[in-house]
Amino acid sequence: MGYKEVYEAWQQDPDAFWMQAAEAIDWVEKPSKALFDDNAPLYEWFKDAQVNTCYNAVDRHVEAGNGARTAIIYDSPITGIKQKISYAQLRSRVARLAGALRARGVEKGDRVIIYMPMVPEALEAMLACARLGAVHSVVFGGFAAHELAVRIDDCTPKAIIAASCGLEPGRVVHYKPLLDGAIEQAEHKPEFCVIFQREEEVAHLEEGRDHDWHAFQYGVQPAECVPVEGDHPAYILYTSGTTGAPKGVVRPTGGHLVALNWTMKNIYNVDRGDVFWAASDVGWVVGHSYICYGPLIHGNTTVVFEGKPIGTPDAGTFWRVIEEHNVRSFFTAPTALRAIKREDPKGLLLRDYDISCLRALYLAGERADPDTIEWAQREMGVPVYDHWWQTETGWAIAGNPAGIEALPVKIGSPTVAMPGYDVQILDEGGHPMKPGELGAIAVKLPLPPGTLPTLWNAEERFRKSYLTTFPGYYETGDAGMIDEDGYLYIMARTDDVINVAGHRLSTGAMEEVLAGHEDVAECAVIGVSDALKGQAPVGFLCLNSGVDRDEAEVVKEVVKRVRDQIGPVAAFKLAVVVDRLPKTRSGKILRGIMVKIADGQDYKMPATIDDPAILDEIKVALQRLGMAK
Ligand code: COA
Ligand code: AMP
Repeated sequence: MGYKEVYEAWQQDPDAFWMQAAEAIDWVEKPSKALFDDNAPLYEWFKDAQVNTCYNAVDRHVEAGNGARTAIIYDSPITGIKQKISYAQLRSRVARLAGALRARGVEKGDRVIIYMPMVPEALEAMLACARLGAVHSVVFGGFAAHELAVRIDDCTPKAIIAASCGLEPGRVVHYKPLLDGAIEQAEHKPEFCVIFQREEEVAHLEEGRDHDWHAFQYGVQPAECVPVEGDHPAYILYTSGTTGAPKGVVRPTGGHLVALNWTMKNIYNVDRGDVFWAASDVGWVVGHSYICYGPLIHGNTTVVFEGKPIGTPDAGTFWRVIEEHNVRSFFTAPTALRAIKREDPKGLLLRDYDISCLRALYLAGERADPDTIEWAQREMGVPVYDHWWQTETGWAIAGNPAGIEALPVKIGSPTVAMPGYDVQILDEGGHPMKPGELGAIAVKLPLPPGTLPTLWNAEERFRKSYLTTFPGYYETGDAGMIDEDGYLYIMARTDDVINVAGHRLSTGAMEEVLAGHEDVAECAVIGVSDALKGQAPVGFLCLNSGVDRDEAEVVKEVVKRVRDQIGPVAAFKLAVVVDRLPKTRSGKILRGIMVKIADGQDYKMPATIDDPAILDEIKVALQRLGMAK
């Protein structure tokens, strides 16, 4: 069957399609059907089943006689460590850690925050939670203490599992003081913490609260897998929304297992035992789905890479890893390739390596620009598949179904909708638009298995954020179009979310931090085009009247404030002081036009603008930053 037939088979009988995909999962009790729609527009999948994620990701491969197969390859050019962990070893490590957590009272449904860098122990912590039916929430290491505190208060974890430090090129990220600071700031206090002490930094342990990772597991009874219901939350992953309060995306257990397993062959085209590598971070959805769960559920070998595309030690690192570990399918963000291309435009470093084992490159996380795709196609000599998805969906909404049928690549398009997704382009009134017309991208409900059923503790926000604008649809927050051949094009966000180096960030959250500075009366943050990172945030500050300070000082302070409160990952480095912000007569800041001015694009003067002269002032301010040429 080709893509068209598979997609039609899903359209004709979605339940049969997903029940068939569900046969690849080992259930404790099989589901009686796939979709539960009694609470529409909230949907559940495989709700009446009993299953365990860790069993499917680890134990079943050992029981099937594949215990000696490598589950995880840890390759850390930052520390020089390379290590292989077999499925059998992974099972005993995870069972022991789960046993230790259970001995301290962690049970099904309890939340556990994981704050760890790219080490295998991060995956073990995730799997140990899954083994017990505990709900993990991994927090990315590039966030500051305040962001961690917000997550602690929202998901109220019984325990936090962290590492003593992370390693960025030339800099040790001191996780433990960040963790201590976050616990101090948060109203909710975890009962205990487990700290994985890395050789690079041994952290101080708080007597009575903190336990050393190894000592904590000494002499405990390993834990068996605890069956959970199909709709039990597997994890919560916070992502940026319009405001400073992150959204806690809930991932349901049954659908997650079925969908991720389906994607490994049908999208990523790997067979059991093949090596699959996603060069992302466990703190992002790509890391959840394709460093940890997807490859392991499907019985692949996954690569945990602790390094950067450049500088660890050079722009040939990715090629070395692909050759050395025999990587079949490779997934990264376009930014990473742009960084490599900038250092090694002619791909000279590629010639030192034999990457003939690689079958395809997959890109996602941000718009893949044509130059980067063409460069990768030419230099790497493999098909380059852009695919589009979100934290909310957990797997590709649109992609090239290479394992079913490799469709012709159209540069600039992440190809076609995956089975499960009825993607439509809607106008402001919610009416479907014609091929080639630009509109809001929406997905007809229900979303497929594995996608978010709700937001943690925030059902109303879930409905308002995703289900209200277009009744009967899920609002993706992206705008784009579909061409005559059904190929989708993603053009821009319709909200204030920006994408910096493949990292999803909220300009609203940054504005909240700037507005908190005592001298700032009003502010705006926009995402301007950046050759390396896709977008970069720029802040505009209006100071309180009477403030007579060196503007550069205020800028320095707000830059530090964002770094301290949101984290280095915000990459907030540029801000200017202006007298006024351009607004509509009703007071709405015209951020879209400011972006166009910064990027040197044409714009139409809105009829509702309060005072057009302000746009010239903005242009001058941006020119001071080297933009708006
Ligand atoms: N822990 C702590 N700090 C982190 C971090 C982490 N896990 N990840 C990034 N940071 C820090 C960086 O050190 C940097 O700090 P600095 O301001 O002191 O230099 C800051 O956050 C911004 O990081 P980033 O935007 O990633 O820029 P960079 O200049 O360090 O690196 C790239 C540029 C292109 C090499 C890098 O962004 C990259 O590899 N991108 C790929 C992104 C990706 O895989 N995204 C996942 C979605 S698929
Ligand atoms: P995240 O939730 O961090 O994965 O970010 C999701 C958002 O990133 C999407 O809503 C898009 O705006 C953007 N995005 C992800 N993949 C792509 C892609 N292939 N092309 C264009 N934008 C993308």
